[in-house]
Amino acid sequence: MELKQVLQSWWRPLVLGLAAAVLLEGATFAQTMPIAERAKLCGACHGEDGNSRMPNIPSIAGQPEFFLVHQLILFREGVRKVPGMNELLNGLKDDDLIALAKHFTVLAPKSSEEKLDLALVKRGEALVEPMRCASCHLPGLEGQEQMPRLAKQRIDYLIHSLKQFRDNRRSGADTLMSAVVIGVSDDDIAALAHYAASR
Ligand code: HEC
Ligand code: HEC
Repeated sequence: MELKQVLQSWWRPLVLGLAAAVLLEGATFAQTMPIAERAKLCGACHGEDGNSRMPNIPSIAGQPEFFLVHQLILFREGVRKVPGMNELLNGLKDDDLIALAKHFTVLAPKSSEEKLDLALVKRGEALVEPMRCASCHLPGLEGQEQMPRLAKQRIDYLIHSLKQFRDNRRSGADTLMSAVVIGVSDDDIAALAHYAASR
């Protein structure tokens, strides 16, 4: 029997209905996936407890809720581009993003196992005051509103992201932050990263 005949036969509505049901089931599953399950997908990269063990991937545990929602919106809209992450957020509603942010904001941030260089920590400490990092990120560098927590963040990610801001390579970057690090040397960036991670 040819396809055309199949579609004309009496059981055509049955076949189409079945196909639609299967498709719908898939779509509904993706959209109503419980938050804990969805957060597990994030945990593959960011660590199940929100503390990343992977180079250059940020920890997101204990980040301000506002910062998380804001970045997730930037990712979903493709303004901040990270292959592998943008796709995961495709089609999620604002409420889904808020639920993800609420999940990660209450998790405890933990220092990574990278080695702190105490000489760099000291050098960074001397830079933080004149560069006024605390005026936005707060004195404990715990972040607030749209400003991320820097304390206990991975050192390699801090270096990576500071260079992205400095060199204008972070898509969708806040220009307030880029302005802070214009012209800062690689050595000073390393010092700032070691200091922030040590808090
Ligand atoms: C394939 C790995 C991967 C997966 C899966 C993933 N992310 Fe990410 N995520 C990254 C990388 C890499 C970055 C940093 C990108 C950069 O260099 O700017 C990032 C950045 C972020 C940031 C910004 C953090 C900051 O400090 O700037 C947030 C928030 C975030 N991810 C949340 C999530 C959530 C929520 C999920 C699950 C829906 C998720 N990610 C899934 C790799 C991933
Ligand atoms: C005028 C306010 C302001 C000052 C001062 C400031 N920052 Fe920021 N910083 C921000 C904002 C806003 C963001 C979020 C950027 C975005 O959304 O693109 C940010 C983001 C960052 C990030 C990215 C972290 C992440 O998780 O993606 C790092 C690292 C950082 N700041 C380090 C510093 C350091 C170190 C200093 C001092 C040398 C500093 N900031 C001073 C406002 C500021």
